[in-house]
Amino acid sequence: MRLPPFSRLIVLTCLLLHSGTSSAQQSSIDNDIRLLIKTFGLTGNPAAGVTIPSINAPKSQLGMKLFYSRSLGGDETTACVTCHHPVLGGGDQLSLPIGVDSVRPEILGPNRRIKANHKVKVPRNAPTTFNIALWKKHMFHDGRIKKLDAYSIQTPDVGEGKADALGGENLVQAQARFPTTSNEEMRGTFMSAAMSQTVRRSLANRLKKNWENDFREAFNDRSSPIDDLITEQNISEAIADYERSQLFVKNPWSEYVAGNNQAISDQAKRGAALFFKTQDQGGAGCASCHSGDFFTNEEFYNTAMPQIGEGKPKHDADKDKDDMGCFLVTAKEDDRYRFRTPSLLNVEVTGPWGHAGAYTSLEAVTRHMLNPKQAVRNYDLSQVTQPDIDIDKARINTAKALKSGIDITPMPNSTEQDVEDLVAFMKTLTDPCVKSRECLSPWIPDQNSNDPDGNMLHGLRQAGQRL
Ligand code: HEC
Ligand code: HEC
Repeated sequence: MRLPPFSRLIVLTCLLLHSGTSSAQQSSIDNDIRLLIKTFGLTGNPAAGVTIPSINAPKSQLGMKLFYSRSLGGDETTACVTCHHPVLGGGDQLSLPIGVDSVRPEILGPNRRIKANHKVKVPRNAPTTFNIALWKKHMFHDGRIKKLDAYSIQTPDVGEGKADALGGENLVQAQARFPTTSNEEMRGTFMSAAMSQTVRRSLANRLKKNWENDFREAFNDRSSPIDDLITEQNISEAIADYERSQLFVKNPWSEYVAGNNQAISDQAKRGAALFFKTQDQGGAGCASCHSGDFFTNEEFYNTAMPQIGEGKPKHDADKDKDDMGCFLVTAKEDDRYRFRTPSLLNVEVTGPWGHAGAYTSLEAVTRHMLNPKQAVRNYDLSQVTQPDIDIDKARINTAKALKSGIDITPMPNSTEQDVEDLVAFMKTLTDPCVKSRECLSPWIPDQNSNDPDGNMLHGLRQAGQRL
């Protein structure tokens, strides 16, 4: 651009003035956010006080092999990694998972398909295993595994309020004993008449032939008889150590909390202010539920999140399969359609979002959280791109959740700019490691690594393309 000298001076002065005001604005928003950080007592380190196993420890290494082993799947097609792959955000990138009855068991992620004439029967979205060690109270969307006190854990094997003697050392271990007994996730028709505990014992027996050395090394045990070494308890203990080693909490936001004002963009700062401020303060009040450094209070709310797919039945003969969440566990009227507040760490890579994976963009789920009623009215069924999902019941069942009383107060007059700012903020909660195959490689067994019985599942994105 050629300008006369005088105009050039004006342009220069304007530029200087402009940058001057923006840095003043910047410091005022930084002051605002730093006050909110203080009010909420945030430290940027959600793992303070939690013991995280190393992925290199022998027990985590055994756990990794078990997590990737089809030998724990009843019909030997499915492993834990089928629905929880590190490269897929610790989940499967599907709205609703496909366990047994897949067309090709090695294909994981959006290209995974169910066999012809079969239905996608897993009722809920697979949550991420990233940062799983940080949950203090509950596992699962409906909290059906919960910590009762320092020493006891309730599981679906025992009644409400009762401790499961086999629950294990921590919530993650207690959880790891259940996917193998779920028909649609891993069990298939294996020992169909047997009790869960019999299934777990049979799976442990299956490993006795080839896994002895791996278990001896992991548990540093040279002498116990094999029946005391390869047990369902030791299996779940090792798997839990592998999962609990997946700590991914170093992100731009934690750097910002630690004092670096440059760690996040101006737009993300506007999003942070909206996120943490209450509606009375002109914010969106997200932090009333997504609270603390782990971004969840671990409590249950009805947010009228659309229910797509089969839904979790109330009992075997239930045809509606209208997923009532927490109510299925507690039978308390107030708990109808309530689900656990998810953590938002790494939320950018853990989609589709919502307990049934109804939303396939972070913007759309954010609009929902700002105004659930309006979002449900405008809910676009075509965003569910996974074929074979029953979406017909979506409107009927979601309408029931709306009537049941929503626990969210819509933010008055929220704009598209607010949505974009909130999304920019939530993206600062991504640990760069979760987007890098190389950084994640310690959590993915090498193709040439020792494979006790040749049943290790090396996932493919599509034929010929390794995850
Ligand atoms: C077919 C897919 C599938 C397979 C296979 C599978 N999971 Fe999951 N996983 C899910 C779904 C779906 C949920 C949520 C269920 C619910 O909340 O009702 C879940 C929940 C979990 C959770 C709880 C997460 C949280 O935030 O509360 C953990 C941990 C987990 N799975 C670990 C495992 C382990 C370990 C294995 C293997 C033993 C496994 N999964 C096998 C689909 C699967
Ligand atoms: C009253 C408590 C509450 C408030 C307030 C709230 N949320 Fe949530 N949020 C939840 C619950 C509960 C879910 C899970 C609902 C479900 O799946 O049925 C959720 C889900 C989400 C998800 C999807 C996460 C995932 O892994 O699927 C995002 C993103 C989210 N909320 C962001 C926000 C934002 C942004 C705000 C503020 C505008 C907000 N939330 C306000 C309770 C709340």
